[in-house]
Amino acid sequence: MNVLLVGGGGREHALAWRIAQSPTLSALYVTHVNPGFPASATLAAASTVDETVAVAKANHVDLVVVGPEAPLADGLADALIAAGIPTFGPQAAAARLETSKAFAKEIMDAAGVPTAGFLRVDRDDPADVQAAKARCAEGRVAVKVDGLAAGKGVFVCVTADEALAALDEAWSGRFGEAARFLVLEDLMSGPEVSVFGLSDGESVVGLPSAQDHKRIFDGDQGPNTGGMGAYVPCPLLDRDQVEEILERVHRPVVAEMARRGMPFRGVLFAGIMMTPEGARVLEFNVRFGDPETQPLMSLWDEDVLPWLYGAASGELPDGQPAFADEVALCVVLASAGYPETSTKGVAIPEGEVPDGVTVFHAGTRRDEAGVLRTNGGRVLGVTARASSVAEARDKAYAGVEAWSFEGSQHRTDIAHQAL
Ligand code: GLY
Repeated sequence: MNVLLVGGGGREHALAWRIAQSPTLSALYVTHVNPGFPASATLAAASTVDETVAVAKANHVDLVVVGPEAPLADGLADALIAAGIPTFGPQAAAARLETSKAFAKEIMDAAGVPTAGFLRVDRDDPADVQAAKARCAEGRVAVKVDGLAAGKGVFVCVTADEALAALDEAWSGRFGEAARFLVLEDLMSGPEVSVFGLSDGESVVGLPSAQDHKRIFDGDQGPNTGGMGAYVPCPLLDRDQVEEILERVHRPVVAEMARRGMPFRGVLFAGIMMTPEGARVLEFNVRFGDPETQPLMSLWDEDVLPWLYGAASGELPDGQPAFADEVALCVVLASAGYPETSTKGVAIPEGEVPDGVTVFHAGTRRDEAGVLRTNGGRVLGVTARASSVAEARDKAYAGVEAWSFEGSQHRTDIAHQAL
């Protein structure tokens, strides 16, 4: 099978690494490349939808795997499917589960999925603006910008003052049209878990759960990031509980999307809060997580292409995906200044790592002299696989020490909830 992978970050390095090991792979093409990608991957550079369709056709690609959400929102899956090329990742209409928080709430409502109560408001409707102010004046609300906002469009507010200030900020113009609509969601509390379902548009199979660490500093302090580390599986949910969430969340959503003529093919990633009242959906993503994919791929011990192709082509294989009965844990090394800025060009020592550790690259580049250098905010995902959380943590941190660079930042408490 000829496969084209779209994207060049840490998540895509992990996908490329696992796909490259597939016995059913004939050739792996990638639209972007970073220095960690397998040498067997061939660069077929493409940035736009049209360019990606063109390189997929030119290379007789049988399956396109889309890493990030932006190309899905731009209609990449629509264009590839129109060209007859199976695509892992939903079409733009179904990608709205991630790109519009109001749409996701509408689908959850229709499908009876457990989530927080909410109010959807339109900036251009004076009655809605009044209702938004009245709701914020009650406090305990999450003010969420409807559209994509680079991870900065959610304001968690306890007091009325915080909520009213968040409303002003959301409608300050900083988010443009993404903030025309807002979702004002009742505040929930509890630990967060990521639950993934692969879907072919009709059926759903589960993958092990993960836990991400979104804040930059230890103890879940400081600003939000794309994710500073993750581990798989998350012990807050056993297999039966994951299956229960798939039954109450993923399958009803996939059925509702099919009913509306927007079949969901790819991975539906639900951010779940384990509240005292039970599991509640916080948000959906329509692609694999970053850095959750790094530990997920580390444990996925079989040929992944039948699963990815099955989801893309509308017929998942029978049975369940085979994951090692172990733990994988990823610690992200970020450059100085992240998440506000990033420091580029700092040399990275490529030290020895313990057995079972894989260093996934994200923001790296190799200079003319062959020196590996930082080239972005999140730079590396040092990922260890072991038989326990504690062992995986110790191995990953040994890898972190060997690859730390000047000014690098990392959290020292990845998997603290499991330990
Ligand atoms: N790590 C969170 C995400 O990928 O959205």
